[in-house]
Amino acid sequence: MVSKKIRKAVFPAAGLGTRFLPATKAQPKEMLVVVDKPIIQYVIEEAVASGLSSIIIVTGKGKNTIEDHFDVSHELERLLEQRGKTEMLEQVRSISNMINISYVRQGEQLGLGHAVLMTRDLVGDEPFAVMLGDDIIDGKVPCMRQMINVFESYGGPVVAVQKVPRQEISAYGVIDGEPEGGTGRLFRINDMVEKPSAEDAPSDLAIIGRYILTPDIFDALEETPRDRGGEIQLTNALRKLKESRPLYGYQFQGVRHDAGNKLGFLRATVEFALKREDLGGPFREYLKSLSL
Ligand code: UTP
Repeated sequence: MVSKKIRKAVFPAAGLGTRFLPATKAQPKEMLVVVDKPIIQYVIEEAVASGLSSIIIVTGKGKNTIEDHFDVSHELERLLEQRGKTEMLEQVRSISNMINISYVRQGEQLGLGHAVLMTRDLVGDEPFAVMLGDDIIDGKVPCMRQMINVFESYGGPVVAVQKVPRQEISAYGVIDGEPEGGTGRLFRINDMVEKPSAEDAPSDLAIIGRYILTPDIFDALEETPRDRGGEIQLTNALRKLKESRPLYGYQFQGVRHDAGNKLGFLRATVEFALKREDLGGPFREYLKSLSL
């Protein structure tokens, strides 16, 4: 089977970020800073490193700083140029040159599935990636690249999964799958359950914020009724899609930080700071000096 190339990534970023209040009262969760970069930039860098060429960000009310961050800032560039700050100038320029970005607005927060549906016209008739801006994944091979490799071999939708301790499983969508291929990392999905109790969870493999979807997901989303909370769930549309084609779960290699919750955010900050050439040494010394 010849599958079309994945070129586009959808970044749903219209959520309210209630788990991070009060920081997210007047600023988007995606713009919270880990060391010196907003968290969405880490994920866009993953998209670029995975070979994607265009990004569609779904925004909502109060999300203007996302657009400003990835836009050209002529005044700032001029100022840095005048002051001879060439290194900073390069950094600032590289942000706006990183990738082609377009925006679509989700007027009402009707859920992740609804946010994806908003991008139908911009995505068109081709397979695409969905990347959630608060899952930062640190891997030797970028997580999305690993998933594209799976898609190129199997041609069907792929969701990223991760083993999660039983006591945390009820925060996730969970797959019921059978091993596929010989890697031990790929599963053919029989079913998916949204936020099951620890006893009812069909496995310990939780769906996290990376997907490769095929354009037939849009019809499935159109047909997906709102749930009890009034939201259109992507998982429910995927269950519908599973009736007509195989769906895969892929246990990626790498470390995932859920930077949309406070503890995950703190862990990400410490780990990324320790990895930095300029900060790692003194920061490690500081951590060692704490009498914990
Ligand atoms: P979350 O479940 O993390 O919700 O959404 P949230 O509102 O961002 O954060 P909390 O849980 O209240 O703290 C998953 C992803 O879907 C996007 C979010 O921006 C996030 O990237 N989303 C969610 C939308 O774009 N629109 C929605 O209506 C809901």
